[in-house]
Amino acid sequence: MIATRLSVRRHLQRRAANLALDLGIRQLIELGCGIPFPGGIHTVLGNRPEAGRVVYVEPDPVVVELIEQATTGDPTITAIRADPGNLTETLHDPRTHQAIDQGEPVLIMLAPRTPAPETARWTGSAGATEPPTDRPRPASAAFPPQGPQPMSAAEEAHPASGGPYRAFDAGKTHPSRRYDYWLGGKDNFAADRTSGDQIANVFPTIRQAAIENRRFLQRAVSYLVREAGITQFLDLGTGIPTSPNVHEIAQGIAPASRIVYVDHDPLVVAHGRALTTSTPEGATAYLHGDLREPETILDNPVLSEVLDFDRPIGLLLVAVLHFLTDADAPYDVVHHLIEALPAGSYLALSHATLDPLPADTAERLSALADPASGHGAFRFRTREETSRFLDALDLVEPGLTPIVDWRSNAHPQPRASAEETAGYVAVARVP
Ligand SMILES: C[S@@+](CC[C@H](N)C(=O)[O-])C[C@H]1O[C@@H](n2cnc3c(N)ncnc32)[C@H](O)[C@@H]1O
Repeated sequence: MIATRLSVRRHLQRRAANLALDLGIRQLIELGCGIPFPGGIHTVLGNRPEAGRVVYVEPDPVVVELIEQATTGDPTITAIRADPGNLTETLHDPRTHQAIDQGEPVLIMLAPRTPAPETARWTGSAGATEPPTDRPRPASAAFPPQGPQPMSAAEEAHPASGGPYRAFDAGKTHPSRRYDYWLGGKDNFAADRTSGDQIANVFPTIRQAAIENRRFLQRAVSYLVREAGITQFLDLGTGIPTSPNVHEIAQGIAPASRIVYVDHDPLVVAHGRALTTSTPEGATAYLHGDLREPETILDNPVLSEVLDFDRPIGLLLVAVLHFLTDADAPYDVVHHLIEALPAGSYLALSHATLDPLPADTAERLSALADPASGHGAFRFRTREETSRFLDALDLVEPGLTPIVDWRSNAHPQPRASAEETAGYVAVARVP
């Protein structure tokens, strides 16, 4: 559904841009443009000899950076970070002044769900004042989201990504984008594809393993909503949105379901905020947070605005705990999170293992899991080590199993084997 809406939006944008050129309008400002995509309006302009100028306006610093990367060196395109609902701010921005000729007509394009700006006029010079015309957003605007949500100052400064929030490095592989590559997604860079291929050379069924992991996620969420009555989820290490996402599964069964997604990759959060919707009855939110600092996630006020901690919550730690090394104290992290959940909550987890693999494959994968190998830190765990995450919880039948054996009868048969998927999964209840 999201894909359909996006393709309609893109089609309309391109038509509007063409129409503008037909009418002799050669300058475009797109408010709330979102993540750059092939065929964005600047490419329409680029295909026409009378090409003009485009100013993209986005509140999210990561998206602005992605646009800059995608359009490097093109002097006709300007990306500025500003509130798309505040046209005055955009018109006052010195970069807009530089890019756009104020004596010429401009087409202003408004992304769906961006609050319509009230009338704003050019001022004499950059930064000149005039009565504010921006519409304050209601405090509750993000629940459900009304459009792209900007990063908070605290998120931007968060040290989890190794520095200022926006300083993500496309030159290094990242688990979210490599996983996206294995799943056939498009939100990955060359470094992720190279790393993904090197791992696939050693473990050729990695793509099947990723697909089966997603299928487990679907089964676990469906089980939790249908059979355990859970309608609130905290999905930690959520990954780049891949349909069906947790909210699509949960709200498809119980429309009032509420979901908070958390990831430490700024790109994941940017994609999630740009693409994720919610039913009107339910809610979704994306937080930037690091699992290794569970208290900062639990203290985030958005969490308690979206989730009611007096009612059971489904905690999802799917394919994420293996990115925590022993030095990250993963058992303490999980214990801390579970302590915060009310009785009757559930934990669903999946975790990579070398247990079912031939010794030489296990040895070669272990070498790739060494941070010095350039693929990022990774810790395979045995069945016993994985089961320690579930201590003190009541396991749901059939217990801790290979990925493909957990309530999988409804999924395509024959399934991949335990050896081809190399992971354990479980769902357990907080007593
Ligand atoms: C393999 S993907 C799994 C995505 C999704 N949970 C699934 O199973 O389909 C792992 C995700 O965990 C995230 N991640 C890794 N370490 C993390 C950490 N310390 N804190 C938060 N997220 C983390 C990565 O950015 C990535 O998006």
